[in-house]
This record gives sequence, structure tokens and C-alpha cells, in this order.
Amino acid sequence: MIKHVPDRQDMTPRENEQMFEQEISTMAALSMYPTIVTLVGYTSMPRCIIMPLFSSGDLFSLINKPTEPLNALQQAEIALDIAAGMAAVHSIGVVHRDLKTPNCLIERQNRASTEATKQFGPRYKVFITDFGVCRVRESSVAISGQTFLNVFGLSYR
Ligand SMILES: Nc1ncnc2c1ncn2[C@@H]1O[C@H](COP(=O)(O)OP(=O)(O)O)[C@@H](O)[C@H]1O
Ligand SMILES: [Mg+2]
Repeated sequence: MIKHVPDRQDMTPRENEQMFEQEISTMAALSMYPTIVTLVGYTSMPRCIIMPLFSSGDLFSLINKPTEPLNALQQAEIALDIAAGMAAVHSIGVVHRDLKTPNCLIERQNRASTEATKQFGPRYKVFITDFGVCRVRESSVAISGQTFLNVFGLSYR
């Protein structure tokens, strides 16, 4: 899937460039992380981000599908994936600043057995995306690997 990142008119060319660099470098830093969307590649002119296609769409559409209400297990698994993803983002000293259901992409997986899938429903794995407005925390030294932040944004070592 290719995401085109258009220039924002309220920002200077240099600011647009910096925002794009921040989006790319954050995705690259977290690319191997299991609940963050993988950066496959990018182009600078025009500014595009290449990533895997999530054919099950995003969490907003999943939640708003009247035919398929999520059970308690699925809700808990989704919440845990999001918390783990955000902990990873915070651990490198970045604040996402746009966490919302349309920015959580979904991969629908079968469980260990057909019976388990029938009983508990499919596993919806979540991948956080859209680092378009993310920022590096000014006080953070996490980029050098010194500080880690838990899911509540509190630092620990
Ligand atoms: N890799 C992908 N696979 C499938 N759908 C995607 C993917 N990336 C984005 N989308 C869809 O496009 C929407 C917008 O993408 P996003 O990266 O959030 O850009 P924007 O900056 O426009 O919000 C998402 O809410 C999601 O529905
Ligand atoms: Mg978005």
C-alpha cells in the first residue's frame, strides 16, 4: 500500500520536509515491532510511504460493523496490542499525538484451531500507523537508549 503525504499549506517547505522525515524515521525505528506498521520503503519526491496492505481495514470500521460485534476477549486483545504499541513508541521517546481507531490497522487471524476460532471468534491483531504528526519528546534521552516509558508515559529503566 502506498500512502501519499501531501504538503501542508500552513507549513513551510522545510517544516513539511521535517514532518515527513520524523514520520519515516519513527516508522523505521519501530518497523520490527509486532504491533507497529512496518515501513517497507519511501520516496521523497513525491513524498510517499510504502507499507503492507491491511485488507481487513482499520479499527474504526471494525467497531462500527453492526454485523460483527467484538466479544470481551477480542476487545481485551485489541486493547493490549494498542498498549504494547504505544509503549514501544514511548520507549524511543516519541509521542504519537494522533492515536485513534482509524490509525489502528487490523489483521484478522485464525486461532490455533478451527474450534477455538469458532468459540472465541477470530483474533484481530492491531498495528498502529500514521506517525504524520508525531514528535520527539524534548526531555527524552530515549533515542540514545537510556530511558524507557511505560504505557502510562512514566519513565523506567
Ligand atoms: N497499510 C494500509 N492498509 C490498509 N488501509 C490503510 C493502510 N494505511 C492506511 N489505511 C487506511 O487509510 C486511512 C488513512 O491513512 P493514514 O495513514 O491514517 O493517513 P492520514 O494521514 O490521511 O490519516 C486509515 O485510516 C486506514 O483506513
Ligand atoms: Mg490517519
